[in-house]
Amino acid sequence: MLVISKDDTGYVASILFSLPKIWEEEVWTGYRVGQEAAKEQYKFDLSYAHDQIDLEIPKLIAGKKIIYYPIGQEMSLDRKVAQWVKFVQQQHRNKFLFAPEQLNDVRTLIGEMRLIKSPQEIDVMRESAQISAMAHKNLMQICKAGIPEYRLAAEFVYQCSLAGCNAQAYNAIVGGGENSCILHYVANNSVLQDGQLVLIDAGGEYNHYAADITRTFPINGKFTSEQKQIYELVLQAQQSTINKIKPGILWGDLQANIIQIIITGLVDLGLLAGNIEDLIATQAYRKFYMHNSGHWIGLDVHDLGSYKSANEYRALQPGMVLTVEPGIYISKHTDGVNAKWHSIGVRIEDDILVTESGCEVLTKDAPKEITEIEQIMRS
Ligand code: GLY
Ligand code: MN
Ligand code: MN
Repeated sequence: MLVISKDDTGYVASILFSLPKIWEEEVWTGYRVGQEAAKEQYKFDLSYAHDQIDLEIPKLIAGKKIIYYPIGQEMSLDRKVAQWVKFVQQQHRNKFLFAPEQLNDVRTLIGEMRLIKSPQEIDVMRESAQISAMAHKNLMQICKAGIPEYRLAAEFVYQCSLAGCNAQAYNAIVGGGENSCILHYVANNSVLQDGQLVLIDAGGEYNHYAADITRTFPINGKFTSEQKQIYELVLQAQQSTINKIKPGILWGDLQANIIQIIITGLVDLGLLAGNIEDLIATQAYRKFYMHNSGHWIGLDVHDLGSYKSANEYRALQPGMVLTVEPGIYISKHTDGVNAKWHSIGVRIEDDILVTESGCEVLTKDAPKEITEIEQIMRS
């Protein structure tokens, strides 16, 4: 448990409670940092064994007005905080030191801090993105009809692990054909069929920072005419939205841009009919594109931090990292569509860093142009 405490002069101290170094326990569970190294190596101001928590925390909170902690995340912590506050109330009744009067959720503060990445965090995210992009490219090279979806998922995890990822950011989605139209398809147990698309949404986690990439490509290496038309529309929506990203752009403008392009394209292809404004107002696009433009990404794949402030979509700032992930999904269950479009699910997703002058596509090494994909799959 980490306690960060600020006194009246503004001095900030960091205090760590952690497991003590006991070889007979470490032989089972692995090495521990211990209290001495916590101060010397990690530079905490104070460091105690975890069994000192109930003794030390009341001293630390006495005289403080507010405690910030993750309210409701763990009932045992809620109970502890109540006990510590009560203890201080009783101890200090007759002294001029008061117990905290306010409990705030620390996640609101931390979420905002996590939203703007430091240069060190950006370096780690770049690494995570590059490893994951390389692993996606490798899947294009080894994909062929007749292999199971889980073979591609396994290859993805293997390549990420070889490159030093400590985990996957989430369970890989590998959906061939009709499965490409299921947004959170994770069964990954069908066989990939000639002539169909495969949609792969997968990202590694490097030094605890997530990547989140989706690529869609033809299993046999060559797009059909219908697949190509839908793919190009999704790519256009994604590229045009990425091109808009710079400080000051509102979060909501990204989704609006995607919707505008997707609706216009679907009308041109004859998949929707009517006036563009009406189709936007009635959300007629939702039967083909039913999710949002993306999300913040960092330590979590869906990272903390609000999307609105005072009910208005917030403006992008340098150091934020977000995904842009439009998609079009045409299932055989989608009403009123000519069968030639069936089982075409396309999503294209990249991780974008907002910079001072615009943006940087951290996941740019994962190919997404049709000519590039077809060329990689031929060779
Ligand atoms: N892979 C989860 C997402 O795209 O949000
Ligand atoms: Mn995503
Ligand atoms: Mn994703």
